[in-house]
Amino acid sequence: MELVVATRNQDKLKEISALLRGLPLEVVSLDNFRNVPEVIENGRTLEANAKKKAVHVSRFLGRFVVADDSGLEIEALGKEPGVHSARFSGKGATYASNNKKVLKLLNAVPRAKRTAVFRCVIAVADRGKMVGLAEGRCRGRIGFRPIGRTGFGYDPIFVPYGYKKTFAQLGLKKKNRISHRSRALIEARKIIKRYVLTHSTLLRVNFLEQPC
Ligand code: IMP
Repeated sequence: MELVVATRNQDKLKEISALLRGLPLEVVSLDNFRNVPEVIENGRTLEANAKKKAVHVSRFLGRFVVADDSGLEIEALGKEPGVHSARFSGKGATYASNNKKVLKLLNAVPRAKRTAVFRCVIAVADRGKMVGLAEGRCRGRIGFRPIGRTGFGYDPIFVPYGYKKTFAQLGLKKKNRISHRSRALIEARKIIKRYVLTHSTLLRVNFLEQPC
């Protein structure tokens, strides 16, 4: 059975595929489809954005879809960037410019007050109908400069609790064991598994009837 991950971000697809390994699913991304309309992520919460993406994409494709929305909430910044994580430093934002902005805003903030949490919300939908919602969190603190080469986004400035290294230094394997996304996926995996077991025959028939 096919599961579409509503993303074109190859980093994210890699992480999600690795964490869903073992389930009888062929995991594909939006790159496998043409003309999927862009879903504007203008919700006020991660939950609203994840649901909107999953429902719209699964309705458009007539398929089984997971969509996630994640963000970094920094306590000293009133939970910003949060839902604005992707474009925190404005139009044309890059991972580096976002990290730079965070570090600048936290310039005078001491280590003990640099607490932050990565949150990930995953919505599962089938042909336009919500199936379930899962959430995962990873707590930590913001470092004083970017360190490390792996991962993406805020990984070089985020040090998870219990570690002395940033996500970007820990590497994908270790990050996947403790990340907000992996924790949300452990919950989402249960929802997907239950759904696949009860609906797989129905879904297969439906897929055969739908022209690509
Ligand atoms: P998205 O909406 O889930 O793509 O996430 C929004 C933004 O949050 C991304 O562009 C990244 O900057 C940041 N982000 C989400 N997850 C991670 C992560 O695992 N590591 C670092 N940054 C992340």
